[in-house]
Amino acid sequence: MDEHLLEVKNLKVSFKVGKKKLTAVDNVTFSLDRGKVIGIVGESGCGKSVTATSIMRLVSPSVCEIDENSQILFEGEDLSKASEARMRKVRGNEISMIFQEPMSSLNPVYRIGDQMLEMIRTHHREIPKKEALKQCIEMLARVGIPSPEQRIREFPHQMSGGMRQRVMIAMALLCQPKLLIADEPTTALDVTIQAQILRILKKLAEESDTSVILITHDMGVVAEMADHVMVMYAGKSVEYGTAEDIFDHPMHPYTVGLLKSIPKLGSGQEDHLFTIEGTVPGLDEMPAGCRFSTRCPYATEQCKKEDPGMQGEAGHFVRCFRFMDPEIQDSREVE
Ligand SMILES: Nc1ncnc2c1ncn2[C@@H]1O[C@H](COP(=O)(O)OP(=O)(O)O)[C@@H](O)[C@H]1O
Ligand SMILES: [Mg+2]
Repeated sequence: MDEHLLEVKNLKVSFKVGKKKLTAVDNVTFSLDRGKVIGIVGESGCGKSVTATSIMRLVSPSVCEIDENSQILFEGEDLSKASEARMRKVRGNEISMIFQEPMSSLNPVYRIGDQMLEMIRTHHREIPKKEALKQCIEMLARVGIPSPEQRIREFPHQMSGGMRQRVMIAMALLCQPKLLIADEPTTALDVTIQAQILRILKKLAEESDTSVILITHDMGVVAEMADHVMVMYAGKSVEYGTAEDIFDHPMHPYTVGLLKSIPKLGSGQEDHLFTIEGTVPGLDEMPAGCRFSTRCPYATEQCKKEDPGMQGEAGHFVRCFRFMDPEIQDSREVE
């Protein structure tokens, strides 16, 4: 099959705030093949979570609208127009999601095992309880939880943050989804645990041929896992390419800034890292022209007036007028 598992085309998502309509995700387009990982990267407020929750259709239609020209093609079916009943079948079964804070998705009053059983039996009522329980224990073992037969009887608060995030991964993969969306899955954890969790996620996704959308503000996390990368800034995709394109030949000044902000382990420089000056604009204060122009050291008058649009070739695209400019090219030396 050469069809993409997921094709997001011109995704545009707006919030109704009072009388205003504020666009949080603006014409985002990307695709994902079976068994592959795409990293979606950008600082906080760039529209990553809105993109993810729109794919899952977890945005409430009363406050948030997916534009009718947007398409979210999952195995060819446009989820942006699917019924709520259809989406309930898709969620947790064909597409699963893990969030940054496992405590908000795990129910504190139920044992881990009961929550996992519920997950299986919601989607596969035909599986006998004993068999389902066996699957839960096996899954906990696969995410590296020691003595799963005992731990399955624990409540979420009895586990560490890292263990809870493993449980979330186990639950997300229980029904063998075709797509897993992980939104900042390791942000709340310390660096060593982060690396362990990412390794588990990558291994399990590979073993089960699950495609992954990995969302993070941290380029270091993407480097570990992604085949393709989309960099988002202020609701727009500003650079898209293979991980090699993005890490070895970044073209957008914003991407270069993100790469320069990756902490180098053991370098002793963790305290005085490079940071991109300024902040991501709010939805009601978007600059005209290139949205990054207000923070970009290379912005020209043209950049402040016109949107560059996506340019490029051979699968590597960038939203920048000056990407061929020698001054910009020299700035890309990220050692
Ligand atoms: N429910 C909401 N109502 C209004 N604006 C929102 C809502 N949720 C998110 N936003 C805005 O949408 C933008 C993108 O948010 P988000 O997708 O959460 O960013 P990210 O995940 O990249 O940090 C931000 O400007 C945020 O303030
Ligand atoms: Mg987010």
